[in-house]
Amino acid sequence: MSSAHTIRPATGRLGILTPGLGAVATTFMAGVESIRRGHSRPIGSLTQMATIRLGQRAEKRSPLIRDFVPLASLDDLVFGAWDPIADDALAAARTAGVLDERDIERVADFLAAIRPMPAVFDNRYVTRLHGENVKHGNTKRDLAEQLRQDIRDFKALHQLDRLVVVWCASTETFIEPGPAHQTLAAFEAAMEASDDSIAPSMLYAWAALMEDAPFANGAPNLTVDIPALLELANARGVPVSGKDFKTGQTWMKTVIAPGIKARMLGLAGWYSTNILGNRDGEVLEDPASFKTKETSKLSVLDTILQPELYPELYKDVSHVVRINYYPPRGDNKEGWDSIDIVGWMNYPMQIKVNFLCRDSILAAPLVLDLALFSDFAQRAGMRGIQEWLSFYYKSPMSAAGLHPEHDLFIQQTKLKNTLRHVMGEEQITHLGLEYHP
Ligand SMILES: NC(=O)c1ccc[n+]([C@@H]2O[C@H](COP(=O)([O-])OP(=O)(O)OC[C@H]3O[C@@H](n4cnc5c(N)ncnc54)[C@H](O)[C@@H]3O)[C@@H](O)[C@H]2O)c1
Repeated sequence: MSSAHTIRPATGRLGILTPGLGAVATTFMAGVESIRRGHSRPIGSLTQMATIRLGQRAEKRSPLIRDFVPLASLDDLVFGAWDPIADDALAAARTAGVLDERDIERVADFLAAIRPMPAVFDNRYVTRLHGENVKHGNTKRDLAEQLRQDIRDFKALHQLDRLVVVWCASTETFIEPGPAHQTLAAFEAAMEASDDSIAPSMLYAWAALMEDAPFANGAPNLTVDIPALLELANARGVPVSGKDFKTGQTWMKTVIAPGIKARMLGLAGWYSTNILGNRDGEVLEDPASFKTKETSKLSVLDTILQPELYPELYKDVSHVVRINYYPPRGDNKEGWDSIDIVGWMNYPMQIKVNFLCRDSILAAPLVLDLALFSDFAQRAGMRGIQEWLSFYYKSPMSAAGLHPEHDLFIQQTKLKNTLRHVMGEEQITHLGLEYHP
């Protein structure tokens, strides 16, 4: 099935605003500028480096994704942020300790010019941080209106054609969806009443949608994943996606687990632990913030392994996830996975993974891709949940009643087939019988 959509061209400048100017956001911005100045390559970014096969293998058509779909060019991107800590992006990048000073120096003037706007911040939702660069208002609605004004001012100041918002701020404490989240009317009334169930991230999401800016959520907070804000996104024709960038350990999990299942090997348990020393790790020391993260990380295995279909292999998997804050490591996380698998005649085997990763180095290209694809989706007339972007997330948002797809390779197929579909190309089935008459 193919159907070419009418897609507005990517003319003019695209603003990318991030709530949060910490390790991920500054690594993302510094990286884009470093690429623009010819110092780096966009490693890890599908929008910049991946190709997409079109038609039959014999046709040998594999253009770069960015030549196939009209995406904003890196030269047209303009960056801004909100953060309760007033440091500019240069100081914030140095504090984050992700990039070497040599790499920061090359883009120092650019980073120094990015100063965070005052944030909507409340200690009750992120307990371990204290910032002075915050907005004040009588109600949560008032605060959200100030965010809308920031978006309008930023657009006017930089003469932007379009704008997207990507949440790169700290993980908020765990919130269950409640009555205030069910309809837009209830949500707006709760904002007026400054109800506790309205977290700061929800105010950013509401403000973005009201300004017709797509919203992508890089953290596991509920944020835009509530019926009220989906109602708003659908009504205004704005794309949204989330939750929680799929980077280190969970990315590995969604690569390895499909392999175990593809071979019909059993799984007795999967123990995952991490040491992490950045500010994200510090925030996650708080049990309420960790619960949000844990829920996001734990959901992955069940949907890949489908214990309801394969009870003999996957019914009683013991799945444990731990994160330990350990300052000496900074952003260089170390993760260990001990995977207990079961083979022929019930013989146990073990797989051990020791992943020495750099969290923000893995996350930065995802921010870029999500910003560019979200903008593309909006120009293509796509609205609401962008399931095809589940490739980028630990807890992908999905339509009510559907379980999200976690297998990285199914997610990749979904992403590429969506691009083919939107551009009016045939889907690729990998059948191949036509070559063997
Ligand atoms: N790096 C990864 O691999 C990865 C993967 C998945 C998710 N994430 C999530 O991405 C987010 C950013 O990670 P990071 O390593 O950059 O963290 P960080 O602590 O370095 O940066 C977060 C920034 O957000 C700011 N902030 C907190 N509350 C805010 C608010 N209400 N409004 C605006 N700013 C606010 C903080 O002051 C801080 O500067 C975290 O939620 C993290 O869990 C990161």
